[in-house]
Amino acid sequence: MVNLCRTLLKVSIRSFLAVILFFFLSTTCIYFVYAAPGKVNEYFYVGKAYVTSMLGDPDVSISTDYPDPGTYLPVNFTQGENLPCPERLLSMKGPMEVNMSEISMEAVVAKHLDIQLGGHWKPQDCKPRWKVAILIPFRKRQEQLPILLDHLTPMLQRQRLQFAYYVIEQTGSQPFNRGMLFNVGFQEAMKDLNWDCVIFHDVDHLPENDRNYYGCGQMPRHFVHALDKYKYKLPYDKFFGGVTGLTTEQYREINGFPNAYWGWGGEDDDLMNRLIYAGLGFTRPEAEIGRYTSIPHHHVGEKQFLGRWQLLRYSKERQYVEGLNNLHYSRPANVSYSKLYTNVSVDLHPIPLLNCRGWWCGGNTMKKLPGILTLKNPKDIHIP
Ligand code: BGC
Repeated sequence: MVNLCRTLLKVSIRSFLAVILFFFLSTTCIYFVYAAPGKVNEYFYVGKAYVTSMLGDPDVSISTDYPDPGTYLPVNFTQGENLPCPERLLSMKGPMEVNMSEISMEAVVAKHLDIQLGGHWKPQDCKPRWKVAILIPFRKRQEQLPILLDHLTPMLQRQRLQFAYYVIEQTGSQPFNRGMLFNVGFQEAMKDLNWDCVIFHDVDHLPENDRNYYGCGQMPRHFVHALDKYKYKLPYDKFFGGVTGLTTEQYREINGFPNAYWGWGGEDDDLMNRLIYAGLGFTRPEAEIGRYTSIPHHHVGEKQFLGRWQLLRYSKERQYVEGLNNLHYSRPANVSYSKLYTNVSVDLHPIPLLNCRGWWCGGNTMKKLPGILTLKNPKDIHIP
């Protein structure tokens, strides 16, 4: 009897420990998947960066044809208001101080009184080389926006670019859709002015070097080469997140961002695939110039989009079926003008694919890709 009790006690202690362990592991998993999206990636890539630096592996090397910086012109150099602004002025000093202290939007407005309503600015002493729309997708990061605008404005002015900020805010309860927000921002910005270059900018990325020129080029650009949160490395060679720039022509040619990525992750990888399939390639500044700091945030992040790996396998098939050419959203999007930026608020919903015949977009089969809306009867289509 005593032996039996002992055995039972042993078993139950073991089971008890097993239950605790199981509980711990599963809550950790749930936390990483839902409450801290991007964290798993971050830990993974930071770990990788440690290992590679311990093994003495050189920086991630990307062959780019980033133009030769050439000679920087004297600080007081001007060419006359009808001549193109130089791309490289000595007033662009290189490394910049990054100040991440919280600041109110009113204080930022007061510091930049030369910015016109809606966030527009253009140089008066020369003709800007690029008319740049800066698109910033946004949801619940109030404290980051003034920090970014305060930091970017003097840099862009030194670079003598014409620019305006568009903050594209997702309302409603659907998961965040960074790709579709950029497509909406693109369409709304083009109604405003005939921009020739578009910068797709995360609200928490602060450039550390003002020689990172925010104009466009022959090829799409990835402005980030070294990110503090990845130990100033790239997480992987084909990483295309954070801050990118395409001419309006290039963006239209690749059919913009995909609309099908609901939640955190994957849309930037899909954009990279789109560049590859369109044969465009891309450029990136050297690590020293393409350095960024990311502003920490205290919100529960957006949910991870776990279907991204599956969608990414069909980037090619989806490229010209979904993107800019099938974009639908509540029209008119709510556009309002603040002193420092144009705000575009929009409630996003999945867009049914009308002319798609592939199995992956539904059709007659039950199989379909995540993020793709299937409707059996086209009459059921209702776009809010
Ligand atoms: C995601 C990307 C993200 C990258 C770096 C990838 O797994 O799909 O969207 O930019 O990780 O965090």
